[in-house]
Amino acid sequence: MNQLHPTTAAADSPARFVQLHRGGTSVVVECSGQTMPRILHWGAPLDQQGPLSGHQLAALSLAIAPQPGLAGLEVPARMSLLPQESEGWQHLPGLQGHRAGRAGFPRFVVEEFEAVPDGLSVRAADPDAGLEIGVELQLGESGLLRQRLSVRNIGETAYEVLALGATFPFSANAAEILDSAGRQLKERSPQRRPLTVGTHLREGRRGRTGADAPLLLAAGTAGFGFQHGTVHAVHLAWSGNYRLSAERTVEAQNFFSAAELLLPGEIILAPGESYRTPWSVGSWGEGLDELAARFHQDLRSRPEHPKPPRPVTLNSWEAVYFDHDLGRLTEIAQAAAAAGVERFVLDDGWFGSRRNDSSGLGDWQVSTAAWPAGLKPLVDTVRGLGMQFGLWFEPEMANLDSDLARSHPEWILHPGATGSERWPVSARQQQVLNLANPDAWRYLFDAISGLVAEHSIDYLKWDHNRDLLEPVDPRSGVAAVHESTLAAYRLMAELKAAHPGLEIESCASGGARVDLGVLARTDRIWVSDCIDPIERLDNQAYTGLLVPYEMMGAHIGGPQSHTTHRTHTMDFRASSALFGHLGVEWDISQASEAERAELARWISIHKTHRGLFHSGRSVHADLTDPSLDLRGVVAQDRSEAVFALTQRSAPISNPAGPVAFPGLDPAKNYLVELLTPVDSVGRQSRAPLPWNSGAEPLQLSGAALASVGLQMPILYPENAVVIRFTQSGA
Ligand code: GLA
Repeated sequence: MNQLHPTTAAADSPARFVQLHRGGTSVVVECSGQTMPRILHWGAPLDQQGPLSGHQLAALSLAIAPQPGLAGLEVPARMSLLPQESEGWQHLPGLQGHRAGRAGFPRFVVEEFEAVPDGLSVRAADPDAGLEIGVELQLGESGLLRQRLSVRNIGETAYEVLALGATFPFSANAAEILDSAGRQLKERSPQRRPLTVGTHLREGRRGRTGADAPLLLAAGTAGFGFQHGTVHAVHLAWSGNYRLSAERTVEAQNFFSAAELLLPGEIILAPGESYRTPWSVGSWGEGLDELAARFHQDLRSRPEHPKPPRPVTLNSWEAVYFDHDLGRLTEIAQAAAAAGVERFVLDDGWFGSRRNDSSGLGDWQVSTAAWPAGLKPLVDTVRGLGMQFGLWFEPEMANLDSDLARSHPEWILHPGATGSERWPVSARQQQVLNLANPDAWRYLFDAISGLVAEHSIDYLKWDHNRDLLEPVDPRSGVAAVHESTLAAYRLMAELKAAHPGLEIESCASGGARVDLGVLARTDRIWVSDCIDPIERLDNQAYTGLLVPYEMMGAHIGGPQSHTTHRTHTMDFRASSALFGHLGVEWDISQASEAERAELARWISIHKTHRGLFHSGRSVHADLTDPSLDLRGVVAQDRSEAVFALTQRSAPISNPAGPVAFPGLDPAKNYLVELLTPVDSVGRQSRAPLPWNSGAEPLQLSGAALASVGLQMPILYPENAVVIRFTQSGA
């Protein structure tokens, strides 16, 4: 059911209700009189039989209305879309701010309440505090719940906004919190903890999303997994500082809050000015796969979503690092094209004095030392081989040892007046430009746009390799994370507008800028600089809670991982990258003929199935054996699927036993086939796998595959097999 029930006025009640039902999600909002509206329900459908009647809505509100305690407030507080002390709310307020210390406790009264087709909008004001609040709430087609708030200063003096956050109630049955931590080379590592009274707070003060960002803050029933348990989550579509929290109050109200973390002085509203928050986005599901599918469907429904087929990419970083040489890169390009690669990306090291990471960053002119004849000979070769050309940039940064920093120190974020620079602690020998300075922004736009036009560049790898510290705009002496984040978004958008078809990858020391803010302006994210297939298991599974496979850069590296020094077979490296936006990160000019043939074979398998990988539903099994990992992609109509089963470590049982495949259609029959070459599986066994040794492929129903399962080949640890299911006529 995908329907919408806009405003329903309850005839016998002064309350107004908005019922929304889309994408298998129900949201019920109550607006009583002039008090701020509150979400009565967000989650599983309540209205299978059609819209709830006015009586049913009033009953719902009554059912969860708290009883006053003996010593507590006479009218117990109920959480609204903007919780405030004037409603009796004693936990995190929706708005924090002041007018020279005053106006800290506004009492907003609803002035306008409008049910729009997919949600509602509210305008409330407190004339005494001189403030007006706007709340927009939308339920998307896939069942994502979005909120955006704004505050306007209608007073006569300046008002400082300290925080303005969106509030999402979640299920009273939630018992556990899931989010992620991480660092460079190990982004989005899951962490769980019990939900208890108090606040689980995640603050990002790095000036970028960060490798340790929670991505999603989720709360669900005890032990929830990818396939089971009711789970809700919230995400902030923003690439600057953030504050996400999950709180359980002592009155047993559970809620998430999502807000931009504002630094002192960042948002001081002069009379008439306003501040609008980024979108906060909530999802829910019976299991994490359903929760993730809502994000994927929503991204895929955008007209600007990257178009299929996603070109198989070779990125030069791990192949040559800073050692740029036309001859060597030409050989790599030739080997890449022969293996089926469709896009060639030249990474860091092509510009200014950038022969290592200590200098030249910011000088976006092609280096004549590294490229005596400019980039044209390489670009021509790449195009002549039928591939697209991409180039690396790190627009928001500069090495202090650069012409840019020498000529424009005032473009760099730092505390202290120009001429008496006090540089923030250095990271990767670089500092951060203030994109909010229009001169710096214009220089970057002109330099990048000029190169894009000159070489008809198809793709920018847009990097961001350090956190922001003391990010002060030297012109004003005020922190500028908010403004420079918006300016970076504007730079991306205007480059795309000036060069239709230009694609951008969001990279940040690997995967430190992954959020819906940047994804709205880019076409892919670089998940991590670690492409060891074992490390990529968790990394890609948890990145996939938000990001669909077609936007997730997943590369096949050389036999030995550069970041972990583990060595893996091609089959394993390829199986881990197969479902994503596939690439190669390896000097294949040095690979043997056999390795190149194997690579070409996997690229061809990917191309055969990428239509499925990049449109289907991601599925992760909740297996009891921690030595195994099973994940796949099932077509939306469930007519086909591809799964990868990974032997992470040595299993306790041998063989591992039948493995059940979730997500298939129980009523359909499937032909089962191994896509991994037969001679590379079952290597610890004397005889072939029985179901894979007959003349005819095995056929089983989706119901049998989901409950009885399939015996998997006995694998050495750190190996994988890829299995394909195709609906059979029989
Ligand atoms: C970052 C990126 C890498 C690579 C280097 C280049 O670390 O994550 O993929 O582009 O920068 O300096």
